[in-house]
Amino acid sequence: MRRSLLIIVLLMATTFSAVADKGMWLPSLISSRVKDMKSKGFKLSAEDIYSINKASLKDAVVLFDGGCTGEIVSEKGLLLTNHHCGYDAIQALSSVEHDYLTNGFWAMSHSEELPCANLKVHILVRMEEVTDRIAAGETREQIIAKAEAEGVGFKATVESMYYGNQAYLFIYREFSDVRLVGTPPSAIGKFGADNDNWIWPRHTGDFSVFRIYANQNNEPAAYSPDNRPYTPARHFEISTDGVKEGDFTMIYGFPGNTQEYITSDAVRYVAEVSDPTKIALRDKRLDIIGSAQATSPKIRLQYAAKHASIANAWKKWQGEVLGINRLGTLSKKLAYEERFCRENPSKSYILDSLAAAYERNIEGYYNYELFNETLRGIELQQVVSIARSPRLSDAQRAAAIDLFYKDFVMDVDRALAVAMLSEYEAKASFISDELKALFERHGGASNYAEWLYDNTKLGNIEGFNAADIDADPMSEFVAAIEPIAKRVKPYTYRNLSNIPDIEQWYRPYVKALMEWDKRRAFFPDANLTLRVAYGKVAGYEYADGEYHLPQTTLEGIMEKDNPEIYDYNIPQSLRDVYAAKDYGRWGVMLNGKYTVPVCFIATNHTTGGNSGSPVLNGRGELIGINFDRTWLSTMSDIEFDETLCRNIICDIRYVLFVIDKVGGAEWLIDEIDL
Ligand code: ARG
Ligand code: GLU
Repeated sequence: MRRSLLIIVLLMATTFSAVADKGMWLPSLISSRVKDMKSKGFKLSAEDIYSINKASLKDAVVLFDGGCTGEIVSEKGLLLTNHHCGYDAIQALSSVEHDYLTNGFWAMSHSEELPCANLKVHILVRMEEVTDRIAAGETREQIIAKAEAEGVGFKATVESMYYGNQAYLFIYREFSDVRLVGTPPSAIGKFGADNDNWIWPRHTGDFSVFRIYANQNNEPAAYSPDNRPYTPARHFEISTDGVKEGDFTMIYGFPGNTQEYITSDAVRYVAEVSDPTKIALRDKRLDIIGSAQATSPKIRLQYAAKHASIANAWKKWQGEVLGINRLGTLSKKLAYEERFCRENPSKSYILDSLAAAYERNIEGYYNYELFNETLRGIELQQVVSIARSPRLSDAQRAAAIDLFYKDFVMDVDRALAVAMLSEYEAKASFISDELKALFERHGGASNYAEWLYDNTKLGNIEGFNAADIDADPMSEFVAAIEPIAKRVKPYTYRNLSNIPDIEQWYRPYVKALMEWDKRRAFFPDANLTLRVAYGKVAGYEYADGEYHLPQTTLEGIMEKDNPEIYDYNIPQSLRDVYAAKDYGRWGVMLNGKYTVPVCFIATNHTTGGNSGSPVLNGRGELIGINFDRTWLSTMSDIEFDETLCRNIICDIRYVLFVIDKVGGAEWLIDEIDL
C-alpha cells in the first residue's frame, strides 16, 4: 500500500517536473521559456532569438507569400523555403519550353535569377503589446497607420491573442522584389506527392531557393533591374554536423491556426460533424477527379494541383479525427470544464453562455462549410465571375480566361456538379428559393446539374467567347446560389470558435482559465504571427511494436524509385550520383551504410504555415527545413501529444546535396556559411 502510494507520488512528481514540448511562443516573451529550453539543450539567450536592440535570429526569418515561412541563409539575401511554398511562383514562371516544375531550375549567376511577380516576403521589425493603447481608445487603424509611417516599406498588423484578451502590433518590412534562384524537379521537391503526404518515413526534398532584392539603400522596393541583393541584419549559419535522437531542436516560423482552448462543444463539432462531413464530400470529389486523371496523362497534369490541394486537408482531417478519438480529447475537455465549474461556481455562467452561443451558430457554420465544399467546388461558375469582374482590364480578363480553360475539363466538372449539387440538396438547410425552383423545375438537383451542363455554352473557350454570358444557364446558377453566399457570409471565419458571437465568450473564459489553472503553460493560439516552438529529435511508436526511427536516407529514395510511377520517378541524375556513390562532402555513415541523410522528425509543435520554417539546433544553426507533420499528429491543432506528434523536416544536408550534386549550383554552396 505505502509502496504503491510512493510510486504514485514519484510518478506525479516526474510528470509535473518535466515540461512538455508543447506550445508556440511569442519570441518577444521567450525569456519565460529559456530555463526550460536550456535544460533541454538550448545554448543561446532570449536576446539571441529576439531583440530590438541588436541583430537577432528573428531578422533571418520571413513570412513567405502570406502563408508559409522562409529563412535567409546568406548575407546576400538568399532564401530557403519549401518546394510546395514556392510552387505557385515556380508554376507561374514555367511554360512548355521552360517547365521548371518538371525539370527544375538553377540560376548560375545573379543575372539568371527570375523575378517573381506578386511574390512578397515580410520580415518582422518588431512586435509590441498594444492592449493598453486600445483600451485607452486608440483604434487598430490608428496604431497601424502610425507604425507604417515609421519606415520605408513598413507594413503593420494588430493581432489579438487569447481571444482578444491581449492585442499585439507587428511591424514588418515588406519586400516585393523576390527572385527564383533554384528549385529541384518535382520528382525530388514533391517526391511521393499525395501518397507520401502526411506520412513518415518520408523522402521528399521539399525545398526551393529564392533571393530578396532591395534598392540601393537596402530598403524594400518594387522590382527593378537596378535593385541589389538584400543585406539582412542577420542570416542563419548552417550546421552539417547532423542530428541524432534526443538532440534539441527549435523551430522559428509563422504557424497559422490552432484551437488549444476550445470547449467540448467545438471539439464535438470538429470530430463528429465538420471533419467527417468534409472528408466524405472530398472522397467523392477525389474519386471523380482521380478516375478522370487515370484515363489520360493530360488530365492528370491539368488536375494535379487541384487534386493535391483537395487531398491535403482531406488527409489531414482524417488524421485529426483519429487523433482526437485516440486521445479522448472530448471527454478530457468535458472533465476539465466540470472541474472549472466546480472550482469557479461564480464563473460557470461563462461556459453556459459559450454553449448557448454554439447552439445559436452551429447550423450557420455547418451550412457555410457545406457551401464551400460543394457549391463553391463547381468550377465553371468561375468564368462568370471572371467575365463580370470590374477590376480586370481586358488583357487581364483574357489571361485569366486562358488560364482557367487550360486546366479545365468539362466532363470532370459536370460529374463534380452532379455530385456536389446532390450533396447540397441532401445535407443543407440554407437553400435559396431560386435554387429550390431550379431543382423543382428539372426534377431534382442531379437532373438539374445534367441539364445545366447540357445547355451551358461556356464549356470551352470558343463557346465562352461567342456566348451571351448573362443569358447562359450558368449565370442563372450563379444568381441562384448568390443568396446562399450572402446567408453564410456571417459565418465566414477560419474556425467555428472565431465567430464573434462565440468568441465574445472565449475572452472571459480564457481569462478565467489563466487565473485559475496555474499549472498550465498558456500560449496564444497560432494566428500567422511569429512563434518559437522547441523540442527534440525523436522517433516514436507508430503502432504496437512498430517503432519509427527519426531519420531517413537516400537508400529509401532508391527503394521507392520507380520509373513507372509518376510520383516516384526520380531524375536520372540522382540515379547516377547514387550508382557512383558520388556524395562529395554530403556523404555520411548512417546505420552502417555510406549514404546521404534526407528527412528527420522532431517533437516541435507546428501547424500549417510552419512550412518552410527553419529548424535550428541548440546553437541556433540551421539543421533543416520544416515541411509537414505525421499522420498521427494532426490533432495537435487541438491537443498536442508529445508521445505521438512529430513534425517532418527536410535535412539541410539533403538540401545542400541536391543543390550541389543534382543542380550543379556550387556557387550557392560557396555563398552559404557552413
Ligand atoms: N502536408 C503538407 C502541408 O500541409 C504539404 C502539402 C503539399 N503537398 C501535397 N502533396 N499536397 O501543407
Ligand atoms: N505542410 C504544412 C504547411 O504548408 C505544414 C504541415 C503542418 O500542417 O504541420 O504549412
